[in-house]
Amino acid sequence: SPSLGPNAGVSSVIRKKLMGYVGFANLPNQVHRKSVRKGFQFTAMVVGESGLGKSTLINTLFNTTLYAPKEPLPPTAERPKTVAIESIDADIEENGVRLHLTVVDTPGFGDFVNNDDSWRPIVENIESRFDSYLEQENRVNRQKVVDNRVHACLYFIQPTGHSLKQIDIEFMRRLHTKVNLIPVIAKADTLTDEEIADFKNRILADIAHHHIHIFQAPTYDNEDEETIAEAEEIASKIPFAVVGSDKVVATPDGREVRGRSYPWGIIEVDNEEHCDFVKLRQMLVRTYMEELREYTNDVLYENWRTEKLLSMGVAQDSSVFKEINPAERMQEDRVLHEAKLAKMEAEMKMVFQQKVQEKEAKLKQSEEELYARHKEMKDALDKQRSDLEEKKRKIESGRPLTPEKSNTSKKNRFLRA
Ligand code: GTP
Repeated sequence: SPSLGPNAGVSSVIRKKLMGYVGFANLPNQVHRKSVRKGFQFTAMVVGESGLGKSTLINTLFNTTLYAPKEPLPPTAERPKTVAIESIDADIEENGVRLHLTVVDTPGFGDFVNNDDSWRPIVENIESRFDSYLEQENRVNRQKVVDNRVHACLYFIQPTGHSLKQIDIEFMRRLHTKVNLIPVIAKADTLTDEEIADFKNRILADIAHHHIHIFQAPTYDNEDEETIAEAEEIASKIPFAVVGSDKVVATPDGREVRGRSYPWGIIEVDNEEHCDFVKLRQMLVRTYMEELREYTNDVLYENWRTEKLLSMGVAQDSSVFKEINPAERMQEDRVLHEAKLAKMEAEMKMVFQQKVQEKEAKLKQSEEELYARHKEMKDALDKQRSDLEEKKRKIESGRPLTPEKSNTSKKNRFLRA
């Protein structure tokens, strides 16, 4: 049972031994079956100077002639150049596992006098794929989200044997935050082993110096020795020195291999002693395809998405956006309306109090007037009464009346008689 230590409330993991078979050990198999049924989507992009063998390597890599010319080319004809960003889709299957592969071939640059902005269409292509994914995520119905994001970008370096060119640095700096960069030395058959080793070191030094982030195979703590050794082996070959060929040639010992035939011998594409093609394919397809997809989704796309949404958020703060932001607008209107009502109420209260005071003053005044009149009348009546009483008393006591009053007495006497 869990101990009730000081962290009892914090730690929510309770380790228990199961009494019988529950079945969740089968979860990986469920995921496996589902993935096989659904198939996989993977998009690779090739970037590099013109004529470095990008199209050839893609054909070699996926063992299929994605770029096969419809008509066989006459021996003297030049291979057609890629002149625009082309996206080629292919459904390939291996041991029942389906892979929907998209290859984005970009036109080779470096042919123009001014190559300053040649990275722009490529970056725009990568971003438009992010845009399309974001748009799909924001849809009401997100059942069928198609992932067209570029998961890996093979960057082709000319086999000069020197170091990286300015144009390569510029390209990589523009691309590394948006895509998994995998540098490759093109046409490695044109360099000796020693030259390749030196060239690789110089390229890596340049990449580090310019803080360019290239795809690193991740390592996990709980991995077995074999996996770790494989990861180290792959990492040690970066940048991969590759040779591409979609032609099968016969070796002197009678084998049929994919390779290039030279007067001094045959260079085999699939021979690890001859070039790093096998290691590149292993990294791209066999070992790290899922890692490449995951890193694209979790890091590259996520960063781009945050930046994009933040930039939209900044726009929200501007007065232009405020004008059309209905929620903010309503809130503002409500506050204004409430303030107006409160002011009106206060004014009405004041007017009412004033009116009441005036009325009260008027009432008091009329009350006082009434009171005064009443007092006056009362005084008059009192005086009249006292006069009459005086008269009455005088009459009763038989006292002679005043002349004008004697007339009445005479009359009375007469009447009595
Ligand atoms: P753009 O479409 O102009 O960008 O060219 P690309 O980079 O796609 O090159 P492409 O695959 O068309 O190959 C150009 C030429 O190089 C062809 O004649 C290929 O046969 C040749 N080539 C391709 N790969 C290799 C290689 O590994 N070594 C050598 N020596 N030649 C190669």
